[in-house]
Amino acid sequence: LILESLVTTLDEDGAVNLAPMGPIVDDDDLDLRRFTLRPFQTTTTYRNLKANRQGVLHVTDDVLLIARAAIGRLDMASLPMRAAAVVHGLVLRDCCRYHEFRVLDLDDRDPRTTIVAETVASGRERDFFGFNRAKHAVLEAAILATRIGLIPIEQIRAELERLAIPVGKTAGRREREAFELLVAFVEESPTAEEPRG
Ligand SMILES: Cc1cc2nc3c(=O)[nH]c(=O)nc-3n(C[C@H](O)[C@H](O)[C@H](O)COP(=O)(O)O)c2cc1C
Repeated sequence: LILESLVTTLDEDGAVNLAPMGPIVDDDDLDLRRFTLRPFQTTTTYRNLKANRQGVLHVTDDVLLIARAAIGRLDMASLPMRAAAVVHGLVLRDCCRYHEFRVLDLDDRDPRTTIVAETVASGRERDFFGFNRAKHAVLEAAILATRIGLIPIEQIRAELERLAIPVGKTAGRREREAFELLVAFVEESPTAEEPRG
């Protein structure tokens, strides 16, 4: 089972990085005592975890934050964060729950790495909103936006058109803003300038 999350890590100079990541979790381990991150070697998250072997995983329903983090449109300085209790890392104040973790095992023989982590401290900030079709659509759109260059641009455009339907029907202000941001990002990407056939 994949749990779409937000991971903060620090680089060797202590600069924070925030990235959406989908770790594999056991569905009978909802406290996430152990989970497996799968960052590509191209990500900052991978480089930071290899260097520091610790971080913080957050569960959130804030898809605007996920969308902004996915496409690097976040002003990290204005994001409320506090020092983690146990690991050398930072906790997002606005999340549903968080898990401070340490790396138990890191296998980077493949481009997509396998990093087994264990929670060493965790906390709860607020309830999860619940199911909302627009939130899920934005999540899908954010994943598509991070796959530009890997998936044909025509396929990305077609999927965004389909996802616009639940957004139109069920979104609130943040979901609408997130979706518009992602659509604009896809359209502005160099690959999107290919002829539309
Ligand atoms: C919901 C969601 C889940 C994602 N899961 C992963 C993942 O498991 N592994 C990965 O390498 N990238 C994943 N991505 C893409 C990364 O977030 C994206 O490549 C990001 O730019 C990496 O950031 P970083 O270089 O700051 O670590 C995911 C994106 C989204 C929106």
